[in-house]
Amino acid sequence: MKTSLTRRQALKAGTLAASAAFVNLPSLFARSSSYNAEFVSMTDEERAFYYFEGQEGVKARLFANENPFGPSEKAIAAITNSLKDSYMYPFDERAELQRKIAAYEGVSEDHILLGAGSTQLLMAAGVAFGMKGGEIVISHPTFDSLPKYAEGVGGKLVKIDVDNGLNQQLGKMADAVNAKTSLVYTVNPMNPTGTQVSGQEMRDFCNSISSKAPVFVDEAYIDYHPEGLTASTISCVQQGKNVIVCKTFSKVHGFAGLRVGYCVARPDLLAKMKPFSTGGFDLSRPAVLAATASVDDKAFLSMSVQQTEESKQLLYKGLKAVGASVIPSFTNFAMFPIDMNGSTFLSRMKEKGVLVRSWNFKNQDWCRVSIGRKDEMEAFNKALAQVV
Ligand SMILES: Cc1ncc(COP(=O)(O)O)c(C=O)c1O
Repeated sequence: MKTSLTRRQALKAGTLAASAAFVNLPSLFARSSSYNAEFVSMTDEERAFYYFEGQEGVKARLFANENPFGPSEKAIAAITNSLKDSYMYPFDERAELQRKIAAYEGVSEDHILLGAGSTQLLMAAGVAFGMKGGEIVISHPTFDSLPKYAEGVGGKLVKIDVDNGLNQQLGKMADAVNAKTSLVYTVNPMNPTGTQVSGQEMRDFCNSISSKAPVFVDEAYIDYHPEGLTASTISCVQQGKNVIVCKTFSKVHGFAGLRVGYCVARPDLLAKMKPFSTGGFDLSRPAVLAATASVDDKAFLSMSVQQTEESKQLLYKGLKAVGASVIPSFTNFAMFPIDMNGSTFLSRMKEKGVLVRSWNFKNQDWCRVSIGRKDEMEAFNKALAQVV
């Protein structure tokens, strides 16, 4: 982990030096692709830990907030049927997906920007709003893709610590907004903390801040919010506010390996991101057709949330048994403090076949465990009891 910090610092130094000058597109892309591994939420070392050494003997894959209850039968059937036609670009099919998402979100089609997963859109927004030294107000910690991309092109991050309950401090984030702010990035429910802000509080925040700066609300986990989709800030977009809502099929739909995400915003806001996005051209035909089959499959979505909830109760039981104090989770993962160095904890859990992640903030090591199948939560509980 030490190595990765050093590399990140080196990257920061390099990009800050470059940020003074106007960044033209070819040089910007050349730079981001050469450092690409640093921009996504895991370092090369972390990836090696999980993917290359960790495959054999894995009993519980609980490090990436995937959803093992998906994809749905309908999505799988759509993928299977799409394969024979996959020599064709999915032009019409993509347009149909865009129409279906627009109808689902209650906006017109020009309010939707598709991406191969939301990371692609977080990158587009990070670059669009971070270049030329734009200041981005974020929570600390937060999901760090957009912030890293922004920093990579010379953007400045204004970090507001979460409170002691690991809640985002929206009031302090609002106070940090000034004339130099190019974007406010918030996540609800929040990764990595698992905490949530009520729908009303988030909409009030968006309504008051968006007259000063655009607000980007990452709603990757919104379906797991206790208020469900009514917690969404889509209504702010529908009212024409300066708000970008980002969603992904990777979580509740179980599409992490299929790669489909989208942003919902006013066309003029999407226009700022489009030069750095493929506009959905990078979605494969199977992914497009699977998403079209899944987008409004309410029965599957509620089953997916329900299964996650049942596994979460098992997890809480295991944490309680070892006296761990969990931060109440409103997502498909949970965070709890550990009395051990994070890397040591990860290695010991891995020895037992359980893959989780760790963070250090507020002078405390934390474990983030994704909610998986029941057998995975049982494997986690058993390993935890042996490791702590
Ligand atoms: C808050 C948040 N946003 C976005 C993403 C990116 O997901 P994807 O690129 O799979 O859509 C993740 C992934 O874990 C996430 O936690």
